[in-house]
Amino acid sequence: MCGIVGYIGKRNSQSVLLNGLKKLEYRGYDSAGVAVHTAQGLHICKSKGRISELESRLQDAPLVGSAGIGHTRWATHGKPSDVNSHPHTDIETKISVVHNGIIENHLSLKEELEALGCTFVSETDTEVISHLIARYYEGDLVQAVRRAVARLRGAYAIAVLSEHEPDKLIAVRWASPLIIGVGEDEHFIGSDIPAILEYTRDVYILNDGEMAVLTRDGAELMTLEGNFIARQPFRIEWDLAMAEKDGYEHFMLKEIHEQPRAFRDTLRGRIDSGRQAVVLPELEASGFDPRQVRRIHLVACGTAYHAALVGKAAIERLTRIPVEAEVASEYRYRSPLADEHTLVVAVSQSGETADTLAAMKEARTLGARVIAITNVVGSSAAREADAVLFTMAGPEIAVASTKAYTSQLIALYLLAIYLADRLGTMDPSDSAELLAMLEKLPLQAGETLAGAGLLQELAANIAGCEHLFFIGRGLDYAAALEASLKLKEMSYIHSEAYPAGELKHGSLALIEDGTPVVAVALQDSLLEKTIGNIKEVKARGAYVIGIAPEGDTELAKAADRVVYVPRSHALLSPALAAIPLQLLAYYAALARGNDVDKPRNLAKSVTVE
Ligand code: G6P
Repeated sequence: MCGIVGYIGKRNSQSVLLNGLKKLEYRGYDSAGVAVHTAQGLHICKSKGRISELESRLQDAPLVGSAGIGHTRWATHGKPSDVNSHPHTDIETKISVVHNGIIENHLSLKEELEALGCTFVSETDTEVISHLIARYYEGDLVQAVRRAVARLRGAYAIAVLSEHEPDKLIAVRWASPLIIGVGEDEHFIGSDIPAILEYTRDVYILNDGEMAVLTRDGAELMTLEGNFIARQPFRIEWDLAMAEKDGYEHFMLKEIHEQPRAFRDTLRGRIDSGRQAVVLPELEASGFDPRQVRRIHLVACGTAYHAALVGKAAIERLTRIPVEAEVASEYRYRSPLADEHTLVVAVSQSGETADTLAAMKEARTLGARVIAITNVVGSSAAREADAVLFTMAGPEIAVASTKAYTSQLIALYLLAIYLADRLGTMDPSDSAELLAMLEKLPLQAGETLAGAGLLQELAANIAGCEHLFFIGRGLDYAAALEASLKLKEMSYIHSEAYPAGELKHGSLALIEDGTPVVAVALQDSLLEKTIGNIKEVKARGAYVIGIAPEGDTELAKAADRVVYVPRSHALLSPALAAIPLQLLAYYAALARGNDVDKPRNLAKSVTVE
């Protein structure tokens, strides 16, 4: 986990590094640091806490130099502290290293290095890298880095700056994302594109097992074996403004409000209204034949997993192919039943989640065909899949996923309808109706946002509570799971989601006077049953907030308060249910004074297993 940056060129590196780190703060934010090559040699400044801490230290004692590396950390080995912050160095502070990932064999390497006289100052796994490079340095930094990384097991994206060869930055990637930015008389390293987009739009995306040697004048790409790689830089077309707050108080609120646009962009060009069919040229181009598919596995983590649960229901209902949705970190450890007749769909906003990438790898090994649904062009998932369906949500910065989640739902609906159409498992009139409702979603998402005021009021009512329950049946239960996760991660209120009919089998014991229960009831066919369950919790004193379709009168009679969302096709309702529930979590976090865009202990992109 963590974000890394590097700069070499015509500017003073300190401000480039700080700007880059601020853009990467979503990857971790418990400590930060930079190393700069100054006229007096290699200097390091690092600090526990947010990047603003580091910034104020640098204001007091600026580091002036045209080459530097920087890091923002999400602790894995060693608590957040000044000394555990990156960059890490060798004993003589001649070599500095920043690292994103985990070095799995660091303990044995540490023992070996200690036996040779190395003294370690931090508890991190990263420190072995700087000591190893120092050990192997014999007048050629590239060679020393190559020999050092050959000893590492695990995942790493690293950047190296050394006083021995200060006119050079070295970057290496193995299983953690890394890009190189190409400017005029300057070059950049970043974990992600926004870190450098202010300075250049031309980037190389490093693959596993590749390194880059950067000078002010050039960037050489090579394999770890030393073979040079000829590659054209990739031109970034999107704008940094898309990653800024646009007048909203928080990225999360901005991203919630961007959903109508994100829906529209994800649908754009994928519905042929003449033929009343979904067109996915990305799948056609990969030679994918739905008739070969006997079973489907959806793998994902966190919020994306909740999108996968909705995808499972939609695909199964429309195609009658058996579908499993699975938390990606579990997939490869349970000997999944996958073969060449299995379609594995990996759902990931970032396309860099280590667990999801590992599940994709496992699926490939078993001979399955792999499709990625991701939001990030050039991400590892996008590159490793046989075919990619991009969600067009635009950069998502807030740690809590909102617009990326609902865009994943849209992509999964498109996939489900596409498969059903190719397999002939759907009645054409049903398909036309579903497509018409799908095309209405952007507008309806806009209407749903208009109810933000009510959600703010309801959030104030629940902000003081300790526990909360979300209930729903079928797809409403999938929506409830995501709502519960959102509330937990944002507000730190303990919450659980239950299938509405299951509460009575145990957890009903936790309902007492005033316990808030949010009941999602957007499936007409299940409404009566859900109302029955609402009555059960009401009888035990619960305060019930219902999420109902516009025009409903029944739920209103059973619940204390009701939030209405526009009526849609039952399969599509989770995309609309998500919006008020995201707002509820947002306003509850705000009411409790939490850091909305950077909830405690979390990171947006989890690149460790
Ligand atoms: C992290 C984030 C979650 C996200 C999950 C999967 O845990 O905090 O919000 O849902 O990773 O991320 P992905 O990029 O694979 O969708």
